[in-house]
Amino acid sequence: MEIVKGTKKWMKLRTSRCAGKSLGFVPTMGALHAGHLSLLRRARRENGLAVASVFVNPAQFNDPRDLQRYPRTLSADIKMLESVGTDFLLLPSAPDMYPDGYTYRVSETSDSRELCGAHRPGHFEGVLTVVTKLLNLVRADRAYFGEKDFQQFRLIKGMAEAFFIGTKIIPCPTLREANGLAMSSRNLLLEPAHRALAPALNKALRSKARPAEIKNRLEALGFEPDYVEDRWGRRFAAAKLGKVRLIDNVPL
Ligand code: PAF
Repeated sequence: MEIVKGTKKWMKLRTSRCAGKSLGFVPTMGALHAGHLSLLRRARRENGLAVASVFVNPAQFNDPRDLQRYPRTLSADIKMLESVGTDFLLLPSAPDMYPDGYTYRVSETSDSRELCGAHRPGHFEGVLTVVTKLLNLVRADRAYFGEKDFQQFRLIKGMAEAFFIGTKIIPCPTLREANGLAMSSRNLLLEPAHRALAPALNKALRSKARPAEIKNRLEALGFEPDYVEDRWGRRFAAAKLGKVRLIDNVPL
């Protein structure tokens, strides 16, 4: 696997080494787990070359403490990416990604205001801006996103269509622990007692109860729910356990 640090270096490589091959792209913020690897395996299977990026995007963190706490496990990430045959790893810095100082932004003015958008001001603007930049840099044939972040996937797909970005945006199923907990980089930050409680989020979402009842049930268990809501044929929830915010969704 070739590790590429600067965006200029990548642009040269993109022209010289990737010509004539299809590219599958998996953007990440690192702290990789089996869910990310399943996206990369698929990228590898469906394309001539698999490209991953690791960039903890400051623009999408509405809380600076959350950005500071976000897990960073680069050496383990590199080994994992190599184990699934990733060809290129892009490791841009914040000045590489934001030469404009984040004065140019991509925003969506409807669905991005719901669910997580209603609770994390500026989050989706940060996500859509960095993903636009990454898609423009990588110019992949296909990019893969996990359905755990279904609202994110939906907004990115809409954005790619709205801006005629040639990359196909592909949703991939959420990978779960045996106890139902959706795999997430943030799970690494859960305290032991909260780790034992965390699978109750998915269990509650899968129950036949109405969203308001599920929210009460989660509160009674010790979660601090932001929302439990039905949208787009799915049921979504976000809830805090201590300092860690978990999200999940299931088809209705
Ligand atoms: O889902 C993530 O890890 C991030 O939101 C993404 C898509 C890599 C953009 O920073």
